[in-house]
Amino acid sequence: MVLSAAASIDGKIAAASGDSALSSPEDLRRVHRLRSRADAILVGAGTVRADDPLLTARPARGPRAAPGPLRVVLSSAGRVPLGSRVVRTARETPTAVACSGLAREGTRRALEARSVRVIEAGRARVDPGLLLEKLAAEGVRTAMLEGGGSTVWEFARLGLVDEIRVAVAPVLLGGSRSPTLADGAGFPTVRGSPRFRLERASRLGGDLVLQYARI
Ligand SMILES: NC(=O)c1ccc[n+]([C@@H]2O[C@H](COP(=O)([O-])OP(=O)(O)OC[C@H]3O[C@@H](n4cnc5c(N)ncnc54)[C@H](OP(=O)(O)O)[C@@H]3O)[C@@H](O)[C@H]2O)c1
Repeated sequence: MVLSAAASIDGKIAAASGDSALSSPEDLRRVHRLRSRADAILVGAGTVRADDPLLTARPARGPRAAPGPLRVVLSSAGRVPLGSRVVRTARETPTAVACSGLAREGTRRALEARSVRVIEAGRARVDPGLLLEKLAAEGVRTAMLEGGGSTVWEFARLGLVDEIRVAVAPVLLGGSRSPTLADGAGFPTVRGSPRFRLERASRLGGDLVLQYARI
């Protein structure tokens, strides 16, 4: 699984207000190219509730040839706003909500009526490993994890992040409560934390794009 995000110099993925407009136009183009090579894009429901992203792979020019990667939103009870852009565009772009057994029948039906597939993977929370297995069984080879911090932690703590691509924007956000690349409880020690090898570092406009592979 490839973790993809834009971060500030101090590793925040949004400011204290929730403002996450960190990507430059050049970086957005890079992310769209990356998405176009992925089979699925995963995000937490918090990101959909906060940013209402479209999560499509938009080409630089011309009409979109393919429907784009499958968008998967994680939420224990399937709490993804029906008015969100991912739900409203589910007829054109494949979309799924990954939930647990906590999702009510009515919630599932409301999503399915809008062409959103419901994938149950876990009893009270989504089990990230089980979700990836289910996606792999339907042909998903490359999955991108696009945040936010709590969802990334859920995958990172299980060692499921194989690659990281982060665009570091030249801004310092601060804020002890502002979300970072990976939040949650955190690993207790440096020694016991997953290690990555820097594969590539390049300048893109004012940003620094870093690419790491899991050791
Ligand atoms: N700069 C960037 O690249 C970037 C990218 C993405 C997001 N962001 C920012 O990140 C912030 C949102 O981050 P966040 O940490 O608050 O939220 P988040 O990680 O997007 O979403 C958290 C929610 O996802 C669901 N979830 C995650 N893992 C789950 C699991 N294993 N089982 C069941 N549900 C699971 C839960 O939804 P339920 O509560 O419904 O169960 C949880 O409350 C926003 O400010 C956004 O702007 C920035």
